[in-house]
Amino acid sequence: MTDKTSNQMWGGRFAAGPDAIMEAINASIGFDRRLYAQDIRGSRAHAAMLAAQGILTDKDAEAIREGLLTVLSEIEGGDFPFRTELEDIHMNVEARLKEIIGEPAGRLHTARSRNDQVAVDFRLWVRDQCDQAIEALTALIRALLKQAEAGADWVMPGFTHLQTAQPVTWGHHMMAYVEMFARDIGRFTDARARMNESPLGAAALAGTGFAIDRHMTAAELGFDRPMANSLDAVSDRDFALEYLSSASICAMHLSRFAEELVIWSSAQFRFVALSDRFSTGSSIMPQKKNPDAAELIRAKIGRILGSTVALFTIMKGLPLAYSKDMQEDKEQVFDAADSLMLSLAAMTGMVSDMSARTDVLEKAAASGFSTATDLADWLVREAGLPFRDAHHVTGTLVALAEKKGCDLPELSLPEMTAVHPAINQSIYSVLGVHNSVASRQSYGGTAPSQVRAQIARWTEQLA
Ligand code: ARG
Repeated sequence: MTDKTSNQMWGGRFAAGPDAIMEAINASIGFDRRLYAQDIRGSRAHAAMLAAQGILTDKDAEAIREGLLTVLSEIEGGDFPFRTELEDIHMNVEARLKEIIGEPAGRLHTARSRNDQVAVDFRLWVRDQCDQAIEALTALIRALLKQAEAGADWVMPGFTHLQTAQPVTWGHHMMAYVEMFARDIGRFTDARARMNESPLGAAALAGTGFAIDRHMTAAELGFDRPMANSLDAVSDRDFALEYLSSASICAMHLSRFAEELVIWSSAQFRFVALSDRFSTGSSIMPQKKNPDAAELIRAKIGRILGSTVALFTIMKGLPLAYSKDMQEDKEQVFDAADSLMLSLAAMTGMVSDMSARTDVLEKAAASGFSTATDLADWLVREAGLPFRDAHHVTGTLVALAEKKGCDLPELSLPEMTAVHPAINQSIYSVLGVHNSVASRQSYGGTAPSQVRAQIARWTEQLA
């Protein structure tokens, strides 16, 4: 397609237009159109600043700022003629502006480059995603707090190695995820604070000879300050990597919880019933109710971490300043952000809807010799045994119960005293699961009183 006329934005030195394949590999409009609102916001701030600095007339700046609002409403109305030959969102917007307002449109790009333009657009977009992730995580935490409140004293098995370990409370298990998701909020908050500097005005790479006011545009766009080095400003994508890293850790947390929901909702466990709203059926097996949402959330980490690795790999080894490689940043972040937001919404829905089968939980909590540690602790406390010896005595009792096919509380007192003479009737009080959890009052422990204290702390923090 060499007969095509050269590009109207940069084609001055070109005699011929690009090959169709060149156009296809070069164009980003297919995806970066998602930056339209940020692009227009940045351009409006830039035009106002140019006028305030006497670089543009007020009349031209007004025409540009008004015209950009028209472009905005055209795009939002869904009738904007996006053109691949105009490469990206920046040139699509500017070309349309020219059609609408004519000559002044050509003055907008004074003291600016697409390099700082795309940096500011993308930063605004990612900053907004941090806010949205924080909001969605807060909703998920609220749903978990509700579950924790309802079940602060429901007992269930706690696991290590997915083997029954010690009884814990449902509330305690829910609150463990509150802690994880709260740290995720912390990561998005930190990333947002660090990325909140404006690259606008760095121009192509070296700054500009025009007397621009970068502090003015930074303030107008809600940034704390302009970035201090123009080379860094146009070539930094740390902000996107920090967002992706935070998203990856969050997706990993979601994946772990999703896995537990898959296990818990199975016919073998029956710990929870997931709602119909967040389950699907099988087209062949009529009895099936599948935890598809949980499975998909479990999988999304693959995409999100994949995007993170992709962007790290894209950025590594890039010399300063801008290289076109960096155009490959956007699809990674867009896909990760979409996956994360969908996962958070689905998890919040599942958590709000799910109901614990408290009878099944309690029965499971009591099985698997889950109070063996309580027995050993009793021997330490009441009979003065060193913990290592108490551990050994308890192990003998567990082996005996296993041989008899019963649980620890079902061993008779003579059977127990035969193993260790210091054992007396009061040992039975620590073998029940409710006593077991109630005794774990150490700070951060599973006792309902501790769990309620943590729920109160988080509820207050969220208020
Ligand atoms: N579409 C480009 C990107 O996403 C915009 C910046 C283009 N800059 C350039 N010097 N060609 O990175």
